This record gives sequence, C-alpha cells and structure tokens, in this order.
Amino acid sequence: MAPKPLFIFLLNLAAILVPLLPLSANAQALKIGFYSKTCPKAEDIVFQEMTKVIKVSPSLAGPLLRMHFHDCFVRGCDGSVLLNSSKNTAEKDAPPNLSLRGYSVIDRVKTKLERSCKGIVSCADILALVARDVVVLTNGPFWKVPTGRRDGRVSRFSEALANLPPPTSNISSLKSSFASKGLSTKDLVVLSGGHTLGTSHCNSFSNRLYNFTGKGDSDPTLDKNYIPALKKKCKPNDATTLVEMDPGSFKTFDNGYYTQVSKRRGLFQSDAALLQDSQTKDYILNKASASFFKDFGVSMVNMGKIGVLTGKSGEIRKQCAFVN
Ligand code: HEM
Ligand SMILES: *[C@@H]1O[C@H](CO)[C@@H](O)[C@H](O)[C@H]1NC(C)=O
Ligand SMILES: *[C@@H]1O[C@H](CO)[C@@H](O)[C@H](O)[C@H]1NC(C)=O
Ligand SMILES: *[C@@H]1O[C@H](CO)[C@@H](O)[C@H](O)[C@H]1NC(C)=O
Ligand SMILES: *[C@@H]1O[C@H](CO)[C@@H](O)[C@H](O)[C@H]1NC(C)=O
Repeated sequence: MAPKPLFIFLLNLAAILVPLLPLSANAQALKIGFYSKTCPKAEDIVFQEMTKVIKVSPSLAGPLLRMHFHDCFVRGCDGSVLLNSSKNTAEKDAPPNLSLRGYSVIDRVKTKLERSCKGIVSCADILALVARDVVVLTNGPFWKVPTGRRDGRVSRFSEALANLPPPTSNISSLKSSFASKGLSTKDLVVLSGGHTLGTSHCNSFSNRLYNFTGKGDSDPTLDKNYIPALKKKCKPNDATTLVEMDPGSFKTFDNGYYTQVSKRRGLFQSDAALLQDSQTKDYILNKASASFFKDFGVSMVNMGKIGVLTGKSGEIRKQCAFVN
C-alpha cells in the first residue's frame, strides 16, 4: 500500500516537469530589454540610425516593415531573409521578394551596433526593432519589442514560395496560413493594416484589372469607380510601376488601409478577402478606427515570436548577409 502514493506522487511530478524540459533545454522566451546589460544602447542606436534613414528616404518605411513579416513567415524570425544566396538560392532571390528593399539599411544599423557591442545583437532582432521604429517614425504606435532572437544559418528559395501567402489568396487560405504560424484571425486583419504604408508593383494586382476570369473582365469585388484610375497607372504586363496602397498617405502609418478596404479599394485580392469573413469584416468596418494602433503592437509582438531561435541555438551573425 505504502509505495502507491509515492508512485502517484512521482507520476504527478513527472507530468509537471516533463512538459517543462524542452523549454529549459533549448528555448528561452524572448524578453523586453534583453540587451540592457550586454549592449545597453542597442535600441537607441537602432532608433538613431532609423531616424536618419527615414528622414532622407521615407519610402523605405514600407519595405523595412515588410521585411520583418517575410523573415518571420519563412523559418521563423531568424534573419534568414537577409542571407545572400550561396550554394542554394536564398529566400531573398525568390519571387515574393518583389520590392523587398532596404537590405543596405540593415547592414548600416548592424555596422553601428558592431562598433559599440561586437557580436552581441542579432540580425533577427535588428529586423524586429527596425520594423517597430519605422512605424513610430511614420506617426504610428510604439510598442515594446521583446528581444533575444538568434540568427539562423539557412535560407531557401522554395521555403519563401511555400510560406508567404500570395496576393491572390482567399480568406480561408489566409486564415490557415496565419494559423499555421500560431497567429489568429485577429492578427491577420490587424497585421494586414501594415498595408497603410508603402507601394505595390502593378503586377501584384493587375490580374484584377484585366481578363480576371479569362473573359476580358475585372474583379467584381473591386470598386468599379476605382478601376479606370488603376488601369491608367497600370497597363497590362507592367512590372515596374509602383502604386500607393493607401493613396495620399502611403508614408504615414494611419487607419487609411481600413478605409480603403471598406470602400472595396484594397489593391490585392487578399485585402478584399478580409470582407468575406464576419470577424475580419467587423474589425474593418467597426473596430479598426478605435483600436488599430493598440492592436498593431500586440500583433507585431505575436508575429515576432514565430519560430525564434534563442539561448544557444543559431548564432549572432557578424554580417547580416552571411553566416559566420
Ligand atoms: C496577409 C497576407 C499578406 C499578403 C498576401 C501581402 C502581400 C503583399 C504584396 C503583394 C505587396 C506588394 C509587393 C510589390 O508588388 O511590391 C505587399 C506590400 C507590403 N506589405 Fe504585405 N502582404 C501581407 C501581409 C503583410 C504583413 C503582415 C505586413 C506587415 C505587418 C505587410 C506589410 C507590407 C508593406 C509595408 C508593404 C509595402 C512594401 C513597399 O512599400 O515596398 N504585409 N504585401
Ligand atoms: C548580397 O545580396 C545583395 C542583395 O541581393 C547584393 O546587393 C549584394 O551585393 C550581395 N553581397 C555580396 C557580397 O555578394
Ligand atoms: C528577387 O528575385 C529575383 C528572382 O526571382 C532576382 O532576380 C532578384 O534579383 C531578386 N531581388 C532582390 C532585391 O533580391
Ligand atoms: C482558396 O484558395 C485555395 C488555394 O488556392 C483553394 O484550394 C481553395 O479551393 C479556395 N477556397 C475557396 C473557398 O475558394
Ligand atoms: C484572356 O484570357 C483568355 C483565357 O485565358 C485568353 O484566351 C485571352 O487571350 C485573354 N485575353 C487577353 C486580351 O489577354
């Protein structure tokens, strides 16, 4: 009789401890102020550099925000988007890279950080801090960025294709793409608000203007009165012209994206698709105006946690385009 309670006690203990094992063995959680002892000026250095960059080139805010999204959706937020192709073709050189610009800005920030704190701050964390700072510097919200990410050693073309949702995505594939990264439907509609910044190439949406179903037609979910203006900017097969996603305020982080989408003037099918789900539609029509700024920080923190390397995993790259 006596061994039984002990046995049950040990079993309970194991049940409590076993799930904790993987945590203590490798992954530590990210934390706010991770560099406060090892590189106390890190976040100030990033912000100072970004202040200079955005002052001179405000149109880099969009690409730099987008870069963190692309990093996180492919292999987790591990800086893999920054790696140059070597033996295998890197994410950087996969088609969804269209308009990913600003790599030299990341290199410039990294150089400044290496000068003050050699080998301490990861490229993956730089991407997360830069994404926050470009939002702040374009009049958007501030949020605290948990840090402590480490850099990965692999970047693959095929993984970018497989993990980044295309602009032709419908609502069910968007929801499942985000869910597969641990992000909710709310995160989907909130993070899509990042399209308040920046521009798109014509060929990311011109299928909606010309021959949408092969009958010489356009996408019926796009505002009929907006189509002539878009056709004027984007001739068939134009792959170079840039169109503002939130016209008139594409360098300002504001609620404009939701106004556009509610008027059926979102550029992508993936923007229009957000009116096809009751939760995302309700957010666009009724919630965004009051809570987008607060929600955006929360969802960016969620996105910034996807598949991170921490503790002893990965490395701190010396140069963001190359593994050590
Ligand atoms: C929901 C799925 C998403 C799809 C299908 C999508 C698709 C696209 C596409 C096709 C472009 C235009 C690329 C070009 O032609 O130049 C673009 C631009 C952009 N995206 Fe997204 N995106 C999504 C989510 C996000 C998220 C989560 C963020 C960040 C929070 C984001 C931020 C941006 C920004 C800032 C730009 C403008 C880039 C520039 O100015 O060069 N997107 N997106
Ligand atoms: C790395 O890739 C970037 C962008 O693709 C390119 O501009 C740069 O020259 C490359 N660097 C080296 C050293 O190959
Ligand atoms: C994007 O990928 C294409 C190949 O799909 C490549 O030719 C181009 O150089 C890449 N652009 C950048 C900025 O890396
Ligand atoms: C949504 O898109 C996916 C992928 O292209 C497709 O398999 C699916 O049938 C589409 N769903 C609807 C409801 O159209
Ligand atoms: C429109 O699409 C149909 C079907 O794919 C094709 O036969 C036709 O040539 C296209 N028209 C134009 C103007 O591209």
